[in-house]
Amino acid sequence: MRTIVIIPGDGIGPEITDATVEMLKSLNLPIDFEYHTMGANALEATGELIPQETIDAIAKYEIALKGPVTTPIGGGFRSVNVTLRRHFDLFANIRPIRGFGKVPRRYDKVDLIIFRENTEDLYAGIEEQISEDEAHSIKVITAKGSRRIAKAAFEYALAHNKEKVTVVTKANIMKLTDGLFLESARKVAIQYPGIALEEILVDHMAMELVLDPSKYGIILTENLYGDILSDLGAGLIGGLGLAPGANMGKDVAVFEAVHGSAPDIAGKDLANPTALFLSAAMLLDHMKYYKEAQAITTCCNLVLSQPSNFTRDLGGKLGTKEYTKIFIKRLREVLNA
Ligand code: NAI
Repeated sequence: MRTIVIIPGDGIGPEITDATVEMLKSLNLPIDFEYHTMGANALEATGELIPQETIDAIAKYEIALKGPVTTPIGGGFRSVNVTLRRHFDLFANIRPIRGFGKVPRRYDKVDLIIFRENTEDLYAGIEEQISEDEAHSIKVITAKGSRRIAKAAFEYALAHNKEKVTVVTKANIMKLTDGLFLESARKVAIQYPGIALEEILVDHMAMELVLDPSKYGIILTENLYGDILSDLGAGLIGGLGLAPGANMGKDVAVFEAVHGSAPDIAGKDLANPTALFLSAAMLLDHMKYYKEAQAITTCCNLVLSQPSNFTRDLGGKLGTKEYTKIFIKRLREVLNA
């Protein structure tokens, strides 16, 4: 029996984690769930945004499924997500972007995966107030950090028979930092002679993805650009409700959707849990439950092939609970087929 740490989070987090745990339980796998807190609700209950017992549980079980959390703006709080990723050195943020079923989208064929460096860049949180009129933020890029995310992207390309990796930077302007990221990617690419390294500047990439995403597959990039391009990618496939993700370190892995805590729809049974379902599929894949992981993805395609199954963010009418019920029923059919 393996234990997964469940962190419901804030806003829509508890609704979509409840739905996801229900979906996972329906698979009858030898998995236990242990609940821990993080974010605004943890702050209220314990005075800490990330309680020590949550850190200890993640360290012990090395695998977590996390709902989105709200980081209070200002007040000297460091982002919960940034702190967590740095604490466990979750250096690879892997975010697949794929269209499902009949969800309305601009392009039918979108099949991207973003490999985003997750611990450095402007997210290192080194900021300084110089005067009332001036503030600085320091961009940190290391060769070690750049090489290991590049290696993760190339290893994925190798395992999935892909011909190229597209590295995205702004190395023409930030010659030292982005220059180092690019140079590190080039050095890693040499070790993979069958896979091309395509180099694109981030502004150009934003336009390219909107014009024709089918030209791209694996995107390798820094922390900030990766964050922005993942939301852009979510926009290409019908919205944030469909974009999953994984934060991978050497030992620990934390799975979560790209989207945030969506306070505007929290507690109203309006959240689309699909992004967290797909994050759970990535978790099962990581645990080597390949059949069940694939079944969840297949089920997304089947369920979302019927517009009557759409949640409100996709233009439909279903609430979180009703959608989850339909999804689980269909998942059982997929697994029994
Ligand atoms: P957001 O992703 O929470 O919401 C953006 C828009 O998308 C909203 O209109 C929301 O209703 C909609 N949306 C998001 N997920 C949805 C879903 N599953 N189903 C239906 N609609 C959905 O981004 P926002 O508003 O910028 O951030 C809100 C809070 O979330 C902030 O406190 C932010 O710090 C936090 N956040 C947390 C993240 C995490 O824990 N991984 C990631 C991003 C933001």
